[in-house]
Amino acid sequence: MSHSSDLIGSDILGYLRAHEHKSLLRFITCGSVDDGKSTLIGRLLYESKLVYEDQLAALEADSKKVGTQGDNLDFALLVDGLAAEREQGITIDVAYRFFSTERRKFIVADTPGHEQYTRNMVTGASTADLAVILLDARKGVLTQTRRHSYIVSLLGIRHVVVAVNKMDMVEWSQERFDQIVAQYHAFAAQIGLHGITCIPMSALCGENITSHSAVMPWYTGPSLMEHLETVVVEQDNQAKPFRLPVQWVNRPNQDFRGFAGMIASGRIAPGDRLRALPSGHEAILSRIVTHDGDLPHAVAGQSVTLTLDREIDVSRGDVLVAAAQPASVADQFQATLIWMHEQPLLPGRPYLLKVGARTVTATLSAPRHKINVNTLEQQPARQLELNEIGVCNLNLDRSIAFDPYVDNRETGGFILIDRLSNDTVGAGLLQFALRRADNIHWQALDVNKRSRSTLKHQRACVLWFTGLSGSGKSTIANLVEKRLHANGRHTYLLDGDNVRHGLNKDLGFTDADRVENIRRVAEVSRLMVDAGLLTLVSFISPFRAERQLARDLLGDGEFFEVFIDTPLAEAERRDPKGLYRKARAGELKHFTGIDSPYEAPENPEIRIDTTELSAELAAERIISMLHDKGVFDSDDDSALAAL
Ligand code: ADX
Repeated sequence: MSHSSDLIGSDILGYLRAHEHKSLLRFITCGSVDDGKSTLIGRLLYESKLVYEDQLAALEADSKKVGTQGDNLDFALLVDGLAAEREQGITIDVAYRFFSTERRKFIVADTPGHEQYTRNMVTGASTADLAVILLDARKGVLTQTRRHSYIVSLLGIRHVVVAVNKMDMVEWSQERFDQIVAQYHAFAAQIGLHGITCIPMSALCGENITSHSAVMPWYTGPSLMEHLETVVVEQDNQAKPFRLPVQWVNRPNQDFRGFAGMIASGRIAPGDRLRALPSGHEAILSRIVTHDGDLPHAVAGQSVTLTLDREIDVSRGDVLVAAAQPASVADQFQATLIWMHEQPLLPGRPYLLKVGARTVTATLSAPRHKINVNTLEQQPARQLELNEIGVCNLNLDRSIAFDPYVDNRETGGFILIDRLSNDTVGAGLLQFALRRADNIHWQALDVNKRSRSTLKHQRACVLWFTGLSGSGKSTIANLVEKRLHANGRHTYLLDGDNVRHGLNKDLGFTDADRVENIRRVAEVSRLMVDAGLLTLVSFISPFRAERQLARDLLGDGEFFEVFIDTPLAEAERRDPKGLYRKARAGELKHFTGIDSPYEAPENPEIRIDTTELSAELAAERIISMLHDKGVFDSDDDSALAAL
């Protein structure tokens, strides 16, 4: 079975050819160091002869020095050494290792087994075809085995090997093995996990790892390596309906227009009828173009460029699908989410959602529930913390083509990205589209924003005042409104303290509540603009993401961010409501600027430094900005001069 390196010397081309045509198996190992995971991976690498002479010499020396195996090689040291896990204690990244045998190439994702590394396990599992779930024959099925199995099933891995390790510690007992197998099957049935192969082994002694064990003659199944080499996974994706997320539209000249990407699932041949989603237009596949010439057909995993028999509208991020078995299109979903960031999920905050080659903006509802990954119980939750798994509704800013994750991992799996930091904050699995979206339509109204604004001789817009508590937002906003009003303008002022007495009286000052506070006010301000009003909003609105959300809800030139820039020390000195004093005394928690953040605007339309300008002068500046931006009818200029 081992890597036939002799061929490299005698027939290098033959070697490369053989290597190129080998299939690839991606698998993940789940378990902890205690279960013998590092020893197992170390042995697989060693047996496939991918351990180089110098590493081997170092391993022998280390085994003698710190190893736990007497004169034998300690394979755990090999793996731990490769990942530098020994120095770090434990790694938080996913370590991907590559090895190959004569029959197959392998990529193994090795992730730590503890609950605080759930996100790493999810990352490793998301691309795996098979999972090796390790357990200790003495201990049997443990809480962590259940957690690992649940994540494996959640992420749609269809092939599971239960590696019942340390059989040497239970006298190679068939009875013990059978017990564990029965226990595991009973549990697997509960979570709908199928395709299970149980193998008794000892990674330490090398039993049933690469060859059939003589000490457990009662076991007649394959060794681990035999199974990894022969399990059939390639067909899984090819048997599914055709999907190709378009990465790039290739148009070198007028005569050629090709759609490039990697086939996510299925197979195609020229003559097939394809549909572009979300548009729904159809065409016949003309050619499958690759670097090495045209292909008569292509399958999942291949990168190709497709040309069609007619011009239809397809752009980057769209999905080409089999017309007879199309994907669905929707903009509202229920999804399972795995949260991967220290900052918790904030319902209502817009995140970027990437599915296939498409990136859209998504807001998430509060979780319907979260899942205790150890007991698999559903629990109520208001938000999701790092490593938590829950179910939420998603709202996208545009429709996407998708399949439920259970049907297709490629078109049903997504990641969430923070819009400001660009960090990946979560991973998700689309469950189904919410029909709600189909049943609520935009009602076309004859009296619209424009006509309402025109009647008032103004262009409706939002003046969004942001700044610390006590910075002077409300004082200045009040002066601005007074002057506009005195001049016959139609206005409304939404003030944080006031709105929190009514519409938002259910909200406090946690990050999640502030996000919701601003989301609602942003929506209200949009309605006010629709009503044709000059709308003043005076809220601390401490987070950039939600101020951006408010801006995005409005049209170009309708949103003016007014940064009332008062340094914390000055706001605290003024302390008009005595709240800073209380916060400093520890009587008020989550106070902005003290123990809750304020993210200053980076590009406000106008910045007011209240240490330099009086409130009156500030109001004047803001009104003249509105004038410059053309908010008032030009024939009103004379009236404006009087403001
Ligand atoms: S925001 O952060 O969600 O935008 P908002 O503008 O609605 O806040 O409300 C801020 C007002 O609530 C402050 O001016 C202050 O009077 C009062 N307040 C009470 N508790 C807090 C707190 N913990 N942090 C900030 N403001 C508070």
